[in-house]
Order: sequence, then structure tokens, then C-alpha cells
Amino acid sequence: MEKIGVGYASVTETEKRYVMDALENERLSQGKYVARFEKEFARLHGCRYGVMCNSGTSALHLALETLKELDSWNEETEVLCPAITFIATSNACLHAGLKVKFVDVDPSTYNMNPEEIEKHITKNTKCIIPVHAFGMPCDMEKIMELAQTYHLRVIEDCAEAHFAAIGGKPVGSFGDIAAFSTYVAHTITTGTGGIVCVKDQNKMEILRSLVAHGRACTCERCLASDSDQVCPKRMETELDRRFMFVRLGYSYRVGEIEGALGLAQLERSESIMKKRRENAEYLLKGLESMEDQIQLPHHPENVEHTYMMFPILIKKGSGIEKERFVRYLEQKNIETRPMLPLLNQPVYKKIFGNIEEQYPVARYMNHHGFYIGCHHGMGREQLDYIIESIRAFLQEV
Ligand SMILES: Cc1ncc(COP(=O)(O)O)c(C=O)c1O
Repeated sequence: MEKIGVGYASVTETEKRYVMDALENERLSQGKYVARFEKEFARLHGCRYGVMCNSGTSALHLALETLKELDSWNEETEVLCPAITFIATSNACLHAGLKVKFVDVDPSTYNMNPEEIEKHITKNTKCIIPVHAFGMPCDMEKIMELAQTYHLRVIEDCAEAHFAAIGGKPVGSFGDIAAFSTYVAHTITTGTGGIVCVKDQNKMEILRSLVAHGRACTCERCLASDSDQVCPKRMETELDRRFMFVRLGYSYRVGEIEGALGLAQLERSESIMKKRRENAEYLLKGLESMEDQIQLPHHPENVEHTYMMFPILIKKGSGIEKERFVRYLEQKNIETRPMLPLLNQPVYKKIFGNIEEQYPVARYMNHHGFYIGCHHGMGREQLDYIIESIRAFLQEV
């Protein structure tokens, strides 16, 4: 069997056509494709505005810097992050000069456990970042309730959960700002990239300014440096507003190639999601008889899990050694990756010390969890092969 990877990026004729169109128009910096992708991606996530940027980490950083400016946060400000996530979530807080406090995760959803949040709230806590990990939405009802009670901002990290929803309401539409990654292996991919989505114009304007060096004017005419239409405000001030900078910004923009790739993928997002869901359901059915040994990703009826990955947690008392299991699967050419271990990362041990002990659920996952893929490039043959390989291993334990 050829290697079964955890991620998959397919390039169809539409991607090629849109990219060629951008190239033929000699348009490399942001233009119509970026604008269309931003608008459509935001709309699908219940937001009015999208601002494309060069990574999911930049998206988080921009979100944090926007709220930092609006609410005058300082270096004492604390942000709550889950104890299991890709390191970029908490790194972005550190890059923004904020303090990170971790919250343990729920043992069945693997997402930030709302019951654990209150004990980490102090007078300096200003924001929660729920991460919809592995494609599974967080318990946003409880998180938003707590945010309201304690007057906290909410940034949803939706990097792994494009199109996931709760009761039909898409992730990204619950909090103040939503950040997405479109790096390869993410459901919609632009190679490298990210997008921040918001509902209100004020935040969008700050985000657009921050993404482009802190520009004063973020109107379409000023943003398109080759636009022949002149912004009416352009010459109102001493400095040309197109090149007037009002905040310390970043160079986090992307160009038309990423926009073209993203738009092409969005146009077939429904079929991508359908295939992923079918694949996950097939794996769940095939593996259900092994659930006394391994925990599979289940979700409540009203939740749409989008299965960016398929997490597997070895159950307590099963006697299964993770290293042996993972090595066996890798030898079978089934790629595995660790289940987003964070607190035991060498760099975090240096920054935060040995705090893993204080987070028993995350600690258990760090040592007993991994994930495999269930992406839209997989067919029945690969899925059956995965199920049979896992069955053969577990039977021998
Ligand atoms: C939960 C989460 N947040 C943020 C990121 C960062 O995205 P990027 O790699 O595009 O910077 C990732 C990347 O995989 C992620 O999984």
C-alpha cells in the first residue's frame, strides 16, 4: 500500500485555471481573487468580513493585536488557551506580548473544558481562545456564557475546523474574531495562508491596516497600489494616505495565487466536506468493535464535526503501548502524528516550567494519543486497509 498521509491537497482544473488567469492578468499582489475568497469564506462562517493573511499564526496574531488595541491590553493581560492545541495558538499570544494561562481539555471532545475555565480567571484575564481541535467544535454555548459573565473577549481558533458547526451555526460566528489557517492539509488550502473573519467593520479596518504595515487607509483603492481610481481622502493630509502608517503593523499579506487557489477550493468545499465525513463515518463503523481498547472521535447529534484528522486515544488499562502502536502503523505506511502535545514541548518547558502535571487530561493525551487522516483523497481501499491493520494490531495485544 502506498503511504496514507494525514493530509491531502488536490489541485483540479479550476485551481489551474484561476491561477493562470491571475498570472495572465499579471496580477500577483492582492486583487479580485483575494477579495472574492475573503468575502465568500467569511460568509460561509457567519461573518461579514474576511482578511486574508500569510498563515493561521498570523491570523491569530492579528486578531490579538486588534483586541489589544481596542481594549488597551498590556503585558499583564492574560489569555486562556487550551492545554492541547497546535503550538501556534499560544505562541501568537506570546508574540503579542501577552501572558498565557492554560485550561485543561475535556476527555471526550479533546477541546477546552468549560468546567475548567473559571479556576484560571484572574483580574487580568481578558480573552479566551477556544480551539476547535481536529474538526470538532468547542462547547461554545458554555464558553460564551462565561465570556459574558466575566467580560472576556473570545477569539475562535478555527484552523482545524473549517465549516464545522453547532446546531447549524458555523464556527467562527460565535466569538469576537475567528482565525483560520489554510496551510496544506487543512480542509481548504492555499499552500500557505490564513484568514481572519469578523462581523463588524471597525475590527475589519484595524485588521486590514495591521496586515499591511499599519496603513492609514484600507479602502480598496488605496490597497490596490496599481489602482487608477484615486481614494477621495488620499491627498487630504500632509502625507499621501496610501503611504501613511498609523499603527505598528506587519507584512502578513498574501497575493492572487493564494486567493485563486482558495476560491477554487471553496467552490467545491461541499464535496470535500461530504467525502471527509463519509470517510470518518466509515472508519468509525469499521473500528467500533475495538472501542474497549481505543477511544474514537464521537460528537453530539447537533454538532458537525469536520474531521480534519481522525484522533485515536488508547484507553486506560488496555495495555497498549503507544510507541509500539504508532511504529506498527508507520511500518504499514499509515502516517500518524501526535495528538497536539503542547505542555511537554521543550520550548514550553523552558518558558512555563514543568506544568504538564497540573493538566491531567492533556497529560494523558500527550502520552496516549495520536491521529491519522481521513481526508477526501482516501478511498474505500485505504480505509479498509487502515481498519484491518488496526484490528490485526489490537488482536495481538
Ligand atoms: C489549531 C491551530 N492553530 C493555528 C495553526 C497555525 O496555522 P499556520 O501553520 O498556518 O500558521 C494551526 C496549524 O496547523 C493549528 O492547527
